[in-house]
Amino acid sequence: MQERKLIELTGKQTQLIIEVGEFAEILHWGNKVSGDLDRCRSALYRPVPQGRLDKDVSVTLSPELGRGLFSSPGLEGHRNGQDWAPVFVLKNIEQSDHKLSLESEDPQAGLCLSTEIQLDEYDVVKTRHTVTNTKSGQYQINRFANTLPLPAKAKELMTFYGRWVKEFQTQRQPLLHGGYQQENRRGRTSHEHYPALVAGSQNFSEIVGDVWGFHFAWSGNHRLRADVKADGRRYMQAEVIYLPGEVVLEEGESLTTPWLYASYSDRGLNGMSQQFHAHVRNSVISPDFTSKVRPVHLNTWEGIYFDHDPEYIMSMATQAAELGVERFIIDDGWFKARDDDTAALGDWFLDETKYPNGLEPVIAHVNRLGMEFGLWFEPEMINKDSDLYRAHPDWLLAVDGYEQPTGRNQYVIDLQNNDAFDYLYERLSHFLGQYNIAYIKWDMNREIVQPGHEGRASGVRQTERFYDLVDKLRTQFPHVSIESCASGGGRIDYEILKRTDRFWPSDNNDALERQHIQRGMSYFFPPEVMGSHIGSGHCHCSRRRHSIEFRGLTALFGHMGIELDPVKEDVTEKENFARYVALHKSIRPLLHSGTNWRIPTDDEAHQVQAVVSEDQSEAVVLVAQLAMPTNSLSGHLRIPGLNDQATYRVSVLDKPSFYEKIVNTQPSWTASGCEVSGSWCREVGIVLPVLDPETAMLIKLERIN
Ligand code: DGJ
Repeated sequence: MQERKLIELTGKQTQLIIEVGEFAEILHWGNKVSGDLDRCRSALYRPVPQGRLDKDVSVTLSPELGRGLFSSPGLEGHRNGQDWAPVFVLKNIEQSDHKLSLESEDPQAGLCLSTEIQLDEYDVVKTRHTVTNTKSGQYQINRFANTLPLPAKAKELMTFYGRWVKEFQTQRQPLLHGGYQQENRRGRTSHEHYPALVAGSQNFSEIVGDVWGFHFAWSGNHRLRADVKADGRRYMQAEVIYLPGEVVLEEGESLTTPWLYASYSDRGLNGMSQQFHAHVRNSVISPDFTSKVRPVHLNTWEGIYFDHDPEYIMSMATQAAELGVERFIIDDGWFKARDDDTAALGDWFLDETKYPNGLEPVIAHVNRLGMEFGLWFEPEMINKDSDLYRAHPDWLLAVDGYEQPTGRNQYVIDLQNNDAFDYLYERLSHFLGQYNIAYIKWDMNREIVQPGHEGRASGVRQTERFYDLVDKLRTQFPHVSIESCASGGGRIDYEILKRTDRFWPSDNNDALERQHIQRGMSYFFPPEVMGSHIGSGHCHCSRRRHSIEFRGLTALFGHMGIELDPVKEDVTEKENFARYVALHKSIRPLLHSGTNWRIPTDDEAHQVQAVVSEDQSEAVVLVAQLAMPTNSLSGHLRIPGLNDQATYRVSVLDKPSFYEKIVNTQPSWTASGCEVSGSWCREVGIVLPVLDPETAMLIKLERIN
């Protein structure tokens, strides 16, 4: 048995104190503390109440039933009915700067458990486990979870839910006995249960409170749980949902969980998000793309759908370039017999009836206009009405004897089938090799019902093979940028972000809905990975109408684009697209590198977002008026994150066209500007003008001394 000792992992402001001995237990996860930790340790020995086991049982990083921890176990499995309640004993510890690796074993059960946990300089914790079968005979795994403790002051949860065209919705609830559990069984990250949650102290808010945020980096089925034990101790757990019989380890084989990312902040949700954003910028997105300017897109989908005529597409490109667009993307409809969404998926050959001269003239035209070219693919899918299916009906991800339900008329390809995998790799690399393609929109438009390979459940392998396919293409074409799209925001998580570099958050381009969707996504993702496109004045999926100002400003902070047919737009509308594209470019370096703030105001009908530059020399603030102002005056805007002592000039960069007519008099600073200190901004603030519902204004702050 190991002698007990304390190990510290430290971030910028936070600390993990882990006691290791026979097992590992996190004693503290919060702000840094000082002092002689070994002496402090005695302050934490718990009482042993009556009516339960006669000894104290720790909540470890992998709770064990065999040790008497009656929480959801970290590992559940068996060897043909044996070895089902392992008790791991720590054998080896390795510590480096920010990282701790632990090796534990249960020789009787024939299992070895390795645990990695790290806390980086952005205050983000990363942890995962690996289990190895060290004995003869197969070991079947039913569950294998990552567990982190929560202090008892974590009394509330913020969780995420959603659906197609309404992703990233948030809800609050108390964390009580019985806990909270969410399960995603849809085969992809899913719109319904984004794999993240936040626990926090009572009434935690954007600005105040202790919060512990969790993100489970996995693009398949998952379960998240936050629970309260009978003794009041709390913990959070994240795991892949394994289908029956899916994971069987032969002797010597291992299984590793996905990474669970977590971050503590005593500065409310903003502090948590800022830590996650910094981590994503520095450690998740590939370095090939973090330093690259994100070009403004024009994507053809909502402009022409399946109606492809190269001459017309080239005229769209010409107009796009005039608007300031920097990357032109041809969406669905370019490949053989793809005239609607009932056929052709899998047949990744150019439709030569639509493109008789090939794709080259279109790409050359786009490049001549100074834009990059991008192309849409949906590699994992197949329509029964396709040459691919007619040749390879056995390539379907399915279980023999059952009819798979269709989703958008399509089926899933079994990526464990090496021939299918190689075919897809060959087809994509053909296009990437032959044409000057800078970007792929990688779509995935249906859920997975029976992920069967050779009769066995294989949902996990399907997700892993999808990663392999993207990785293989990334290795061969490292300069190609990839968007992860799945009917909008159905596959958005840190694991896929390691191999892509932006997301399509939603098929809903309605600016009002986008305000909510982008807000929900902002808790774990910085704006530059959110594809945010200006859609047409008449939104295709909500049938609402919004002004160009509201649409332009709503798309402004993210990876901006335009999603319509510019040829059909009138001159005034086009002038406005050009204006917002230029505005975006003028502040893009700030937007995509600065610190993000979600700012509460005195009126809940507002939604306010700010970005402050790292050196606090400038900031932009977007005030969106989502609904009718609650009162006749709009209250104050208080902006955190500026330099207290510095003076800032405040001015309006953009406002609604009817701005002056909304009230008798708008605040004078909105016409002539004002000068305020950073501390004034934070504590006193600036009087807000009165805005109409579904409008927005953009404010700039520049340090002048
Ligand atoms: C779903 C995506 O979310 C859309 O943007 C578009 O690419 C369509 N698929 C194309 O079929």
